[in-house]
Amino acid sequence: MVDEGEEVLYPNPGYPEYEAAAYFAGGKPVPYKLAVENDFRIDPDRIAELITSKTKLLVINSPENPCGSVVTREELRALVELSEDHGFYILSDEIYRPILFDGEKHHSPLEVKGGLDRVVIVDGFSKRYAMTGWRIGYALVPEEIMPQVFTLLNVMTSCPNSISQRAALAALKGPQDPVFRMAREYEKRRNIAVERLSEVGGIKFAKPRGAFYLMIDVRKVLGKLRKNSEEFVKMLIEKYGVAFLHGTALGSYGEGFIRMSFATSEEEIIEGIERFKRALNDILSS
Ligand SMILES: Cc1ncc(COP(=O)(O)O)c(C=O)c1O
Repeated sequence: MVDEGEEVLYPNPGYPEYEAAAYFAGGKPVPYKLAVENDFRIDPDRIAELITSKTKLLVINSPENPCGSVVTREELRALVELSEDHGFYILSDEIYRPILFDGEKHHSPLEVKGGLDRVVIVDGFSKRYAMTGWRIGYALVPEEIMPQVFTLLNVMTSCPNSISQRAALAALKGPQDPVFRMAREYEKRRNIAVERLSEVGGIKFAKPRGAFYLMIDVRKVLGKLRKNSEEFVKMLIEKYGVAFLHGTALGSYGEGFIRMSFATSEEEIIEGIERFKRALNDILSS
């Protein structure tokens, strides 16, 4: 899809493979910033400013890893319009699609008039069916780029193994209520995390609307420590025994942030936040 020198707009902080894949194709990755001040929302006006004659692809991810933001239908309409006006494709990564909170609805660019011709949907079984180890996913691709997809698949995997294909089929044909039960469970864990983190001074975050991550703004703490986010998470694990991912693992705009995952038990979340609180108390009161 992307030729030498063509530009790929991608969310930052975001899933790191978008930037890597753009480089792999010989393209130029161009990050668009998701800012805590804007609830980590995608801003179509900002996207419009980043478009050039070389823009070939816009990557969107909703619900977003790591920020938990969810795209609205109005935002999608504006983005599809931009793709029509400037002739680029949209790759919509919908892997966290059913994991939504507070009655939030999932919207796909496919719902928007014109979306069908310019959109690639990528999705998989790992999040929805807790099948991370099975390595199986799928894409919905406009017919004109199918030849390139076949070439890539042929040289990279040939096909997913047949055991995973059977497992995926069983997941699809089986009852779907566990998926939604699990989404409610994640919502409960999100509420616990948000409630407890709200009592912690010196940090900022936006309440995630989907997926199972929480991006925490720790710029004040880092300023006091004179450390970057990677050094800080190292200190948290070594001294306090609690693991976060440094924001820069998710892109350059992730500096000053750390990501927590709430894809773990309530007890672990509560204990992890207690340890984090202890660390911040020690740092901010010294
Ligand atoms: C946004 C996003 N897309 C895609 C993936 C890939 O998932 P998998 O390789 O398990 O199919 C991940 C995994 O973390 C992700 O966060």
